[in-house]
This record gives sequence, C-alpha cells and structure tokens, in this order.
Amino acid sequence: MSDDSIPQLRGYDDASLDRAFASLTADLERGAGSLNGADAVEQFRLEWLGRKHGRLKTVSEAWLKTAPPEARRPLGQRFNGLKERIEALLTDAAAGKHRAATGAAIDVTLPGTRPQLGAEHPIVRTWHEAVRIFAAMGYSVGTGPEVETDYYNFESLNFPPNHPARDTQDTLVVVGQERKPLRDRLLMRTHTSPVQIRTMEQQPPPIRLVIPGKVHRNDAADATHSPIFHQVEGLCVDEGITFGDLKGTLDHAMKAFFGSSVKTRFFPSFFPFTEPSADVQISCIFCGGKGCRKCKHSGWIELLGCGMVDPAIFGFVRQKQPAYDPEKISGFAFGMGLDRIAMMKYGISDIGLLFSGDVRFLEQFA
Ligand code: PHE
Repeated sequence: MSDDSIPQLRGYDDASLDRAFASLTADLERGAGSLNGADAVEQFRLEWLGRKHGRLKTVSEAWLKTAPPEARRPLGQRFNGLKERIEALLTDAAAGKHRAATGAAIDVTLPGTRPQLGAEHPIVRTWHEAVRIFAAMGYSVGTGPEVETDYYNFESLNFPPNHPARDTQDTLVVVGQERKPLRDRLLMRTHTSPVQIRTMEQQPPPIRLVIPGKVHRNDAADATHSPIFHQVEGLCVDEGITFGDLKGTLDHAMKAFFGSSVKTRFFPSFFPFTEPSADVQISCIFCGGKGCRKCKHSGWIELLGCGMVDPAIFGFVRQKQPAYDPEKISGFAFGMGLDRIAMMKYGISDIGLLFSGDVRFLEQFA
C-alpha cells in the first residue's frame, strides 16, 4: 500500500527507519504547533490516529505488515514512540483548550523555549578587532564594491594591461565584458587595495583609513586556500609620513593582535603600488620563536604585505584630486589576510571551516 500522506521508506535498516520517522515527527510537531481551537485539535487527531485513514494506520499497513521479521522490533519501537508523542501532543492541546475555557490560556509560570544563542563568526570577530586596533590610532573605516572595474583593481594600482604582475592575483572575471574598454571591464576584486584609490579620489589628504572586506581569487580550495577570503587594508597619507611610521604602526598592531611579546621583521618584497615594498613576519606565536611545525622551524610567520605608496599611485589619483602631490605628501599602505589571522588566533587548521556554515564549528565561538 502506498499513500503520499507518509514518507517513502527506502529500506528497513536503522538509517532508513530513522530518516522516515524523523520526517513524520517533523510533520507532527509542525502540525501540533499551529492547533487553534477544538475543531483543529479533532482534525489533528483524525489525521494521525483516525482508524481508517489516519497516518499511523497507513504506517502500520505500508511498513509494519511487510516488514521482514528482523525489522519488526526496531520498526515497532519507533512506531510506538511516534504514537506516544501523538497522544502527548493531543493531551497538551486538550489541556490548552481547557485552560482557554477557564480563562487562563497562558501559564506564565511554565518555562519558556530557550532560543539558541547566536555568536559572532570568527572572521567577523577578527574584523571587528582589527577595526578597533586601528580606530584607537585614529583610523576611520572605508568600504568599496566587491565587483570592481579593471581600472580600480589593477590599472590605477600600477598594474598595466598585460603586465605579468597581474598573474600574481588569479582573477575571477565577470562574463560578457569583452566589448567594453579594458579599464571598464568588471571582475571580482582580488584585494581591498582598489578602495585606496576610490577613497583618495573622494577626499584630499590627510588620510588614515582601514578597509576590511571580502576578496575573491581563482584559487583551488584546500586547507589554506579559499576562492573567497578577507583582507584588511590600511592607508595613511600625510605630509612627512616615513617608513618608520609604517614599521611602528604595524609593530604595534601585531602586538595588539597577538600579545606584547610578539616581534616583527620586514623583508624586501614587491607590489606594483608600493615602493619600497615589504613582507612582514611576526615571531611564531605558537613556539615564541624557538621553531616548531607551525612556523616550519624558522621561528617566524609571514603575515602581511606593505610599503610606501608609490608616487605613480598619486599620479593616478591626481586626475581627480590635485592635492595628492608626491612632492609634498607621502604615505604607506598595508594589506593582511583576516582569515589567516583568525585561524592563528583561534587554532583553526582548515580555512574551509570558516565558510562551511557548520553549527558544530560555529557554536564553539558562542
Ligand atoms: N593588495 C596586496 C595583496 O593582496 C597587499 C598589499 C596591500 C600590499 C597594501 C602592499 C600594500 O597581495
């Protein structure tokens, strides 16, 4: 016998039984939740316990009668459990009716249903922490679009068309852009740096700005890579800003993130939009710099890129804001991966967990 008032039973093994009964129980609880008035309660009783067409009857006809002998017990136990639950719900509903009749529909002394507590996602938490650390140094917060033009993501940051430096950022492009001039073609921003340009075009110096945000790259997902990740960009522009300011600012920020015993060191590097450029390493927070597996026995962990704003960048910005005169002003910029910082701070070994939406992972941060 088949009847679409009950789910399909795919087999008599425990997993199939559990799935079928879970689906029935979900229906049952949903139905019981919206019972309003005596007629509805009677309707509900008939739907589940009706002698001829009740769902329990259907279950017994369709599943119990044809069950192989060894499945009778597990099936029967689940069947009885469901029946008891139906009866309990009916008793509750009848009591509610009774209370309604005597004028006490809501018993305020009953314990309420406790909603599950939400928690800040570890990325959001780290994002807020970064903003707090830089806000304390006088930085404001900037944002920009995740779907960006070639001009802001690359050209204005001194990555000329077809320049090999573009290959360092595997880019996801938006389809159907071929007929536009290159500078207007849309792509998913590969870093938060375009917001540097957008902000300078909007306001004259001085600027002290942090830019947290989501970025996208055409990277295959593994334990340390994800096509979506997050960065915090920083930009400071004023008269007389030096590399010393950059070092002091980042050294302070790393100590604020990871504790005052953390050391920083700067290595020459290359970015098209900063000159000179540097990679910043921090002393390993796991072994204190002695060398361990996490720092590949070097005692240091590479964490961010930075440098002095290349005068060519001011050249692009000056088309809209003449006050960015490289003869008068200077600045520094930096960019760090939020996800990596979150993973280090909270001991998360697989970046994929951050994007899985798995409650068992997330509730650890409640
Ligand atoms: N935008 C660079 C990246 O994503 C990081 C960076 C930002 C480097 C600012 C220097 C200055 O790799």
